[in-house]
Amino acid sequence: MKPEFKRLSFANCWNREDFSLQAAPFVSPPKWHLAHTTWFFEEMVLKPFLKAYKTYDDTYAFLFNSYYNSLGERISRHERGLITRPASAVILKYRSHVDKFMERLLESPASPELETLLILGINHEQQHQELLITDLKYSLSHNPTYPKLSDLNLISDRDAENTQGDDWISISEGVYTIGHQGDGFAFDNEFGVHRTFLESFEISKALVTNGEYLKFIEAAAYHDPKYWLDDGWSWINNNTMTKPLYWKKINGDWFQYTISGLMPLDEKAILSHVSFYEAQAFAFWSRTPTTYRI
Ligand SMILES: [Fe+2]
Repeated sequence: MKPEFKRLSFANCWNREDFSLQAAPFVSPPKWHLAHTTWFFEEMVLKPFLKAYKTYDDTYAFLFNSYYNSLGERISRHERGLITRPASAVILKYRSHVDKFMERLLESPASPELETLLILGINHEQQHQELLITDLKYSLSHNPTYPKLSDLNLISDRDAENTQGDDWISISEGVYTIGHQGDGFAFDNEFGVHRTFLESFEISKALVTNGEYLKFIEAAAYHDPKYWLDDGWSWINNNTMTKPLYWKKINGDWFQYTISGLMPLDEKAILSHVSFYEAQAFAFWSRTPTTYRI
């Protein structure tokens, strides 16, 4: 069966004031994502491959470079929200400008080297589209009015995803090959094919639901060190974690912030936004015999 792709529309939900929003050093503002992905095509594709192309603005390399050390200095990540100038409208013009020259470049057949860079640029843009949504969701979640970004809340129901059931997959111990081995696209950190030894383990076919995780919370597992790795126990205490990111308890009822705003917690929905530590503690708790939990 073909997967059904859901189209995310921001129509009627965008607010220009959101474009520079950066609620934490580890997220980037929407405007930065838009400019950075554009800069990638300008710097990596147009400048080396289109002779007639002239740099749109010399300051953009400093403002919108991310981690490409070979391409010079750049603004610190935690200061990206300070870039209120150039204005968002200017960045949208920059995108149109680069799009126009990309179309001109693609009127001629692409060399293998150019084709590789184009595929990289498109995958890079896709990666930033995902980041744009997750970063914006994080920043908007700090707004006490719980803003809506889209009509589609992106919360998936486990039954709808057809992953219910109690089956477990057994993986035998042995030496496994890790790393990208196909012909398709992969980012550089997915290469470096190597072998690694795995102990035997079991993994459930069914994804964990909010309702199952709620039982973990109600069992006071966030207050019991025996389920947590030592580092995880420090993490939940240092960050006063008592629930997954975006969950809220208001007047005794559970809610979760989604990109459609604050909604009652859907107990059938697939759990999301938990850390490695929370996933590990939940897995340990859920496989611990009930008599030992007390
Ligand atoms: Fe990037």
